Amino acid sequence: MHHLFFLPPITLQIYFVALKFRGMSDKQNGSLPEDPTWPELKLSQCMYTQTVKDIHAVIENEWDSVKLSACQTAAGRALWKHVINDPFAEILAGETYLQTLFEKMKKDRLNKAREISGVILAVRTLWFDSKIEAALDSFGGGETQLVLLGAGMDTRAYRLSCLKHCNVIEVDLPEVLEVKATLLHSALSSNNEHCQEVIMAKSLTSVAADLTHVDWLPRLQSSGFVPEKNTIWVLEGILYYLSHSKAIDVLKTIAGSCALTRTVLLADFMNKASTTLSSSTFQFYSDWPEDLLPPLGFSDVKLSQIGDSDAHFGLLHDPMNLFNKLRSLSRSVQADPENGAPCCRLYLVQASGSPN
Ligand SMILES: C[S@@+](CC[C@H](N)C(=O)[O-])C[C@H]1O[C@@H](n2cnc3c(N)ncnc32)[C@H](O)[C@@H]1O
Repeated sequence: MHHLFFLPPITLQIYFVALKFRGMSDKQNGSLPEDPTWPELKLSQCMYTQTVKDIHAVIENEWDSVKLSACQTAAGRALWKHVINDPFAEILAGETYLQTLFEKMKKDRLNKAREISGVILAVRTLWFDSKIEAALDSFGGGETQLVLLGAGMDTRAYRLSCLKHCNVIEVDLPEVLEVKATLLHSALSSNNEHCQEVIMAKSLTSVAADLTHVDWLPRLQSSGFVPEKNTIWVLEGILYYLSHSKAIDVLKTIAGSCALTRTVLLADFMNKASTTLSSSTFQFYSDWPEDLLPPLGFSDVKLSQIGDSDAHFGLLHDPMNLFNKLRSLSRSVQADPENGAPCCRLYLVQASGSPN
């Protein structure tokens, strides 16, 4: 039995974290390093500078749950470091979210849970990484750009070598981008040997914009987005924070900018049941993204679920874990017939926006 309804809203972005299932070995449940003692969380020194502490105090006191979700996803990447190499994730996440997730992971491990908290974030990150690389390969050269909408604390420009010929553009709310720049500056000027990397992408541009306002595309264009360049649009953990009409507007705007180029859309969608995890935070959903996207102007829609062959990365072997159980049920089923729990699904979707 799981307890999704009892999660406080603040933890909902990592929304499968409190699931409790028993009976699986450590090796099966996400290949976490063997460590029977599970030591306390050790953070790097740069976390304790006054600047970093002050910034995270402001984040905790002043940001709403939507902006905070950026730190929560970074905490997932920081603590799944045995599969994701993101040296900046720790400083971007902040101690509070790291500690919260760490305690959940520890508890899951001690309880021999079938899923370890944060695995969904790890799989989602790796799925987007792999699809970005494949999309770049599919372009076969030429100038390319990667646009991250709702980029939050994403650091792909620093960590993916496949982006070396690609211009990266990050879009998020101004407060998020400002704080991120200051934290990255702190990390890069610290003596932490893991945080010395320079940008791997050809270039990185940050664009402060609100995706619910009509001016976000013009802002992008005046900051270096070139409609003629092959483009990968990444909408990771963003659509469900928008209202239905705003999410559709964003997708239509992307489709409308694809007329001149080869374009790949990568996005995750919650199904309707998932929005019950926090009806005050999650708004947009789609149970059938493959039907939603073509009328908006996209083609070649491919959909994966967590646990599918391109979306498990060796982290979800147990056939009885939540994700594999969900995959065995028809997608139209909204509640688990065994216990009535909502079938909360996250769809990982790839589509083409290229002119046919
Ligand atoms: C869950 S985080 C995901 C961040 C990043 N894509 C990742 O996966 O780590 C959601 C991000 O969307 C941003 N966001 C939410 N609503 C937005 C809006 N209307 N305009 C721009 N960014 C928005 C938030 O500030 C936050 O950084």
